[in-house]
Order: sequence, then structure tokens, then C-alpha cells
Amino acid sequence: MGRASARPYSTVAVGERHRLPPSALENYDQAFRDFEPYAALLGAEVDIDEVGTILDVGGGNGAFVDRLLAKYPAAQAWLVDDAPQMIARNVPHDRKQTMCASVFDLELRLPEPRFDLITVNVLLHHLVDDSPMETRERVVECLALLRDRLQTGGVMAIYEQFYDSFVPGIDPGELIFGITRLRAAAPLLRALGFATAGIGVAFRSRRGWLELFAEAGLRVSVEQTLHLDRLRLSRLGLGAYPIGAHLWLLRPA
Ligand SMILES: C[S@@+](CC[C@H](N)C(=O)[O-])C[C@H]1O[C@@H](n2cnc3c(N)ncnc32)[C@H](O)[C@@H]1O
Repeated sequence: MGRASARPYSTVAVGERHRLPPSALENYDQAFRDFEPYAALLGAEVDIDEVGTILDVGGGNGAFVDRLLAKYPAAQAWLVDDAPQMIARNVPHDRKQTMCASVFDLELRLPEPRFDLITVNVLLHHLVDDSPMETRERVVECLALLRDRLQTGGVMAIYEQFYDSFVPGIDPGELIFGITRLRAAAPLLRALGFATAGIGVAFRSRRGWLELFAEAGLRVSVEQTLHLDRLRLSRLGLGAYPIGAHLWLLRPA
């Protein structure tokens, strides 16, 4: 598949119908789950003295980037998140700037600088659109625009949920996307633990994420599973196992 660099970037904000509601955002106001192994992998790949600028996209309450700033004492960080509620949860830090903006408006709202490290933690599966194809395009567009904001030698760290399938021919991510988009089923789904009920969420298999990275012109330097979820019947019924979180450290291809 071709690189996405030739495509024009959208500066249209994600439509209201695709935004996470305040009730769902409450779930994400917590400490970052796998910080220590994440930081260890990053430290092995990226020389601490070479990190001057960090961008945390969809950075939420800032708990992650604040810990990163403690590990990289010479770095300045920018945290971008499109939810005012999450920006407001940030504890001020003298080396952190927060900005309430969609990642798709980054070029417009924050044209400078380029970054030595861009972190994207559990954001990509929330970038949904009306169909699986448009959703896929939206994620590639996001990855490509962030790739172009990397400093020479810079690294992008993606921490993402993966939903692999144990049933040949079944893609649990697509099933979950279809189900979570159903507004009529939203109350039931919320009871089953889907915070994104009625909006949609686009999980992918490990292989599915790798395809999108390649399409966005990114190559994998490091890949590690940092978390495996416990077995859940509601997910098994969708053919999904194993489920967990990977960390990928990516560089421009
Ligand atoms: C699941 S939370 C993850 C928060 C944080 N990165 C973490 O790992 O704890 C996803 C975050 O992405 C933000 N978000 C969703 N769509 C976004 C967009 N288009 N641009 C910027 N931030 C977005 C949400 O407001 C939310 O804070």
C-alpha cells in the first residue's frame, strides 16, 4: 500500500457524534497502567539527552507525560487533547504546555516545533468515523500527520489495545465497531462495560495496527506486549482472544 503523505490533511474537527462523552472520559482519568515497562523500553531505544521536545497526543489528565518529564529532565512537553474536561485535570508543570485541540487541527494550532518524541497512548481506537473504511483513513491520516512532525531521528511511541481473533475469518474489532455504533443498544452495552456505546470504538488486531503503521509510512523499531487482559465472556463471544496492549516504537520508513 502507498504512503499517506500525498493525501491532504483534514483540519475538520471530529464531529460531535464521534466525541467521547464526559461520562466515558471519567474512565480515563487515572494513572497510566504500564508506565514502568513503557519507560524502560523507551529508555533503551532513545537517548535521554537527545530528547528536547515531547508531544503527547490525546494526553488526557497528563499523568503519563508528567512522569515522562521526570525521566527526561531537559525535555519540554506539549500535551494536546480535544476534551476541555481532561485538559482541566492537568497539574501545572513548568516544562509542560497544554492545548485543547484535536490532533487533526495540530498543523493549524501548533505549527511548531518538531518533536524528538511523540507519544500516542490509547487514542487511535477512539478516532472513529461513519464507516470502517473512513475510520481506517482517519487513523492513517493521524499517523501520517504526526510522522511529519517528528524531528530527524525522532521516535513515535504508540501504546494501543489489540484485539486478536481465535476464530478464522472473524475480525472482533469490526464486530465491536458495528455494535458500539448502535445507538439503540447503547444502554445494554454500557451495562456490559462498553464506555463508548452509541459512539463507536475501533479496536484492531496486532496485524491490523501494523498494516496502518506501514500505510502511514512508519516502520517498527521495537514492539512489545505490555499487558494481557483477563478472559471476559462478552469478548470471547465476539471471537476475541487474546486482548491486551502493545507498545510500538516507530520511526519514519
Ligand atoms: C483513552 S483516553 C487516553 C488518555 C491518556 N493518553 C492515557 O493513556 O491515559 C483518550 C484521550 O484522547 C482524547 N481524544 C480523543 N479524540 C481526540 C482527538 N481527535 N484529538 C485529541 N485528543 C483526542 C480524549 O479526550 C481522551 O483524553
